[in-house]
Amino acid sequence: MRALVYHGPGQKAWEEAPDPEITDGGDVIVRVDATTICGTDLHILAGDVPEVRAGRILGHEAVGIVDEVGDEVHRLAPGDRVLVSCISACGTCRFCREARYGQCAEGGGWVLGHHIDGTQAEYVRVPYADTSTYRIPDGVSDEEALMLADILPTGYEVGVLAGGVRPGDVVAVVGAGPVGLSAIMCARLFSPSHVVAIDLSDARLKAAKEFGADVTVNDSQDDPMAVIRDLTGRLGADVAIEAVGTPATFELAVKLARPGGRIANIGVHGKPALLHLEEQWTRDITITTGLVDASSTPTLMRLVGSGQLDVGRFVTHHFGMDDFERAYDVFGDAGSGALKVVMNREEERSAM
Ligand SMILES: NC(=O)c1ccc[n+]([C@@H]2O[C@H](COP(=O)([O-])OP(=O)(O)OC[C@H]3O[C@@H](n4cnc5c(N)ncnc54)[C@H](O)[C@@H]3O)[C@@H](O)[C@H]2O)c1
Ligand SMILES: [Zn+2]
Ligand SMILES: [Zn+2]
Repeated sequence: MRALVYHGPGQKAWEEAPDPEITDGGDVIVRVDATTICGTDLHILAGDVPEVRAGRILGHEAVGIVDEVGDEVHRLAPGDRVLVSCISACGTCRFCREARYGQCAEGGGWVLGHHIDGTQAEYVRVPYADTSTYRIPDGVSDEEALMLADILPTGYEVGVLAGGVRPGDVVAVVGAGPVGLSAIMCARLFSPSHVVAIDLSDARLKAAKEFGADVTVNDSQDDPMAVIRDLTGRLGADVAIEAVGTPATFELAVKLARPGGRIANIGVHGKPALLHLEEQWTRDITITTGLVDASSTPTLMRLVGSGQLDVGRFVTHHFGMDDFERAYDVFGDAGSGALKVVMNREEERSAM
């Protein structure tokens, strides 16, 4: 098969790779029909996630058809259309029993495109398949389902739920990439009074308005602190969500929160960020951070199926899988207008 292989910081290639094989009874092999690129893949290529070794097939989001099942798989059969979640879950360890699938202690968690070969390929081996894939209901398209592999559960769980967004809150979201936009879209489910989106790219801020931001700030031109202070009678945001993954944006999110406020870090960080405890220790703030569990996927699937969440609008570009290199360039340029770029296998494209 062909796959997008990581060859160390800044280097990747769409090339021939061995077909994946079932190595455990709980595995399935999925024929990938649609996959996409995450900001985390950009962090890997920037060298921010050093545990990813050269030779690894990247990608942790996919929709496809089950091709082969291991002899301990009970709920899936060849031909089933499934969403492959970015989080694999054994389903039985202490953390999985608490629905903390991201922390799975038995070889699950975020493993695809990280510790094992991922989804940016024609085929992928999915471990613990019964508890790591979701059947896609009729009425939900492949592309809509693909948005639930990572960005929607991440924005919802690690941003909105961890940040405890409540009705009437002023919510600041630093970073309006697909994950920040997911946080904006899901924050709206809780009726905040204002959602403020902060980004360096006007194209991303325009998208933020369309996804439900009331106010946008380009922090290369304007001071987000001043905007939030004006909106909140100088108090600060009730909830500040960080969706970039740099020291500067984490430090900004901490400053934007009001006393007693909540800061939810989503960003993947490759460098230390400063926590100014000498300024913050009196302010009663709560800082949360974590890996997505994707425990909300069934809820989000229902919201998509019932038309409450219009996730199809994330998809701005389509590419064939042999055009992966260009897809990475377009996604990596926030000014290009790209949000989610979808790569389809050739047969799917000719049927579109
Ligand atoms: N915690 C988790 O489980 C989890 C899961 C998925 C993604 N992530 C992380 O979430 C983050 C966002 O992912 P994404 O796919 O949206 O990434 P992305 O790269 O598409 O978007 C990042 C956005 O941040 C903006 N930005 C960069 N510097 C900025 C600054 N100084 N001020 C304001 N905005 C700035 C960029 O213009 C861009 O729009 C990444 O760090 C990703 O690794 C975390
Ligand atoms: Zn991701
Ligand atoms: Zn587990």
